[in-house]
This record gives sequence, structure tokens and C-alpha cells, in this order.
Amino acid sequence: MSRPAFALTYGPWALVAGGSEGLGGAFAEELARRGVSLVLVARRPEPLAQTAARLRATWPVEVVTVAADLAAAGAIGQVADAAAGLPVGLVVMNAAHAPAGPFLAAGEPDIAAAVHLNCGAAALLAHQFLPAMVERGKGGVIFMSSLAGLQGVPNLAVYGASKAFLISLAEALWAETRAAGVDVLACCAGAVITPGYQQAASRPAPGSLSPAQVAATALDALGHGFRVVPGRLNRVNTFVLEHLLPKRAAISVFGRATAAALNSPGGQA
Ligand SMILES: NC(=O)c1ccc[n+]([C@@H]2O[C@H](COP(=O)([O-])OP(=O)(O)OC[C@H]3O[C@@H](n4cnc5c(N)ncnc54)[C@H](OP(=O)(O)O)[C@@H]3O)[C@@H](O)[C@H]2O)c1
Repeated sequence: MSRPAFALTYGPWALVAGGSEGLGGAFAEELARRGVSLVLVARRPEPLAQTAARLRATWPVEVVTVAADLAAAGAIGQVADAAAGLPVGLVVMNAAHAPAGPFLAAGEPDIAAAVHLNCGAAALLAHQFLPAMVERGKGGVIFMSSLAGLQGVPNLAVYGASKAFLISLAEALWAETRAAGVDVLACCAGAVITPGYQQAASRPAPGSLSPAQVAATALDALGHGFRVVPGRLNRVNTFVLEHLLPKRAAISVFGRATAAALNSPGGQA
């Protein structure tokens, strides 16, 4: 799809939840390059302001920032207020919390934050912005999921389960809205070299991609089905995990790979 056609279909505004840095920052950059104005949401105002200033200076787009914790009560209303009157044609639900380590050692606040952000905010943002897209007969939603959502992941139990939730949610919403001209997609990424990944992992995993590669692949996949797996090696791994390995073996392989990649089993992934 040409850049003007993309902006006509998924613009003129896009909302990126977790859009200040990492993969969300790359989504924002790629969307601005395609001529789409942006509502960027994240907790810390400084990285948000820096990203917004860089985008405004580089591309002919408008950028609105919302400093909000999407895991907190009332955050979706705050985002909706900030975006009121802006025709949002694309929502990228990218923010996530990933408590790492044994489930029994996890604190209640960490589990609650992961569920409220990764699952609750994702469903509520889609629920907030999809009706206007359906009414306009165009638009899209991208849920940033992960290969971790394809099977249970020991030491990333809640994170993996939340990414499975997003895969299922995307499939259902894809089916519910495609006849109206709206495209819903789960992006199942493998390792992506972001600040969050570098903090959590001791070294890049095989097949690691840049945030820019993943963002462009996901945006190009809109309108081509309910799931995309960026990267050739990740697509091969997905086929093996889903179709060739017994589930027990897939859980064990993914658990070992995760344990090897994490800096500390009690850290963040
Ligand atoms: N990196 C990988 O290897 C990888 C692999 C597969 C899937 N993914 C998925 O890709 C997405 C992005 O990952 P990433 O590595 O780019 O993460 P990241 O580097 O940690 O960036 C996360 C973004 O989300 C924002 N954010 C975090 N918690 C938030 C909250 N409670 N409310 C609002 N904003 C929040 C952060 O800004 P603030 O901190 O200022 O809030 C930041 O803008 C996640 O959904 C992740 O599960 C990543």
C-alpha cells in the first residue's frame, strides 16, 4: 500500500499506547513517515515530549501526548478525553508489563499491573476506538503480542498468558469487524532490541530484530489476516512450536530459552 493510501485508510490520526520509546517509538516514527498524526501515551512525560518533538521536527504531522499509566483506573477515560474530536483510524496497543521469575515469588501488584495493562487496557482501548472506525468503514487495531503467547512460558507465566489473551482477542475482533472494513491484527514478535529488552536480557537472542523492522512489518500486515510474525527465523520457530513439537516440549523449550535470556530470574522481561 502506498503511503498516501495508508494514511487514507488508517489515518489521519493513530494512537500508540506505549509510544515514547522502544517498539512504540518505532511505530510512531513509521506512522509519521507514512503521514499519520499521532496520539502517544506513556507514563513518563520526558521521553514522550522528546519523541513528540523529534517527530514534529522531522515529519509534517501533529503529535499529542498523554502521560498516563494505562494500568490505572480511569486511564482509558483520560486517553479518550485527549483524543476527543481526533479521527483515530489506528490503535497500536504496545505497552506491556512483564514480571519475570517464578509465579509464586511474584508480588500481587506486579501480577495486577500485568493483567490490567496487557489485557484490560488492550480490550478497553479497542472498545473505545473501534466503534468510530466501524462507523467510518475503515481503520485498524494492532495488539503487540509475542511468541511467548503461543504456549505457557515458565518464569514469565502472567506475561505469556497475557500475550495469549491478545492473540485470541485479535482473532475474535478481526472476525467481528472485517465485514465493516476494519483490520485487527496480533503482532507476535520474537526478540526485539528495545530498552525494555536490553534491561531484561543478557544478550540478543537468535533472530533478534530492530524495532523499526517489527513496526514496518506489522503496519504492512494490516488487512492481510489476524496475525503476523515478523522475521523469517521467528516464522520457522512458530511453525515448529505450533505444529511439530508436542505442547509439553514447546513449553519446556520456550522456558529454557527464556531462562537463558533473562538477566535475573527476578527481573523484568
Ligand atoms: N522487546 C521484545 O523483545 C519484545 C518481544 C515480543 C513482544 N514485545 C512486545 O512489544 C511491546 C513493546 O515492547 P518494548 O520492548 O518496546 O517495551 P519497552 O521498551 O519497555 O517500552 C514500553 C513502552 O510502553 C510504555 N509503558 C510501559 N508501561 C506503561 C503503562 N503502564 N502505561 C502507559 N505506558 C506504559 C513505556 O513508557 P513509560 O515507561 O514511560 O510508561 C514505553 O513507551 C510489548 O507489548 C511487548 O510485550 C516485545
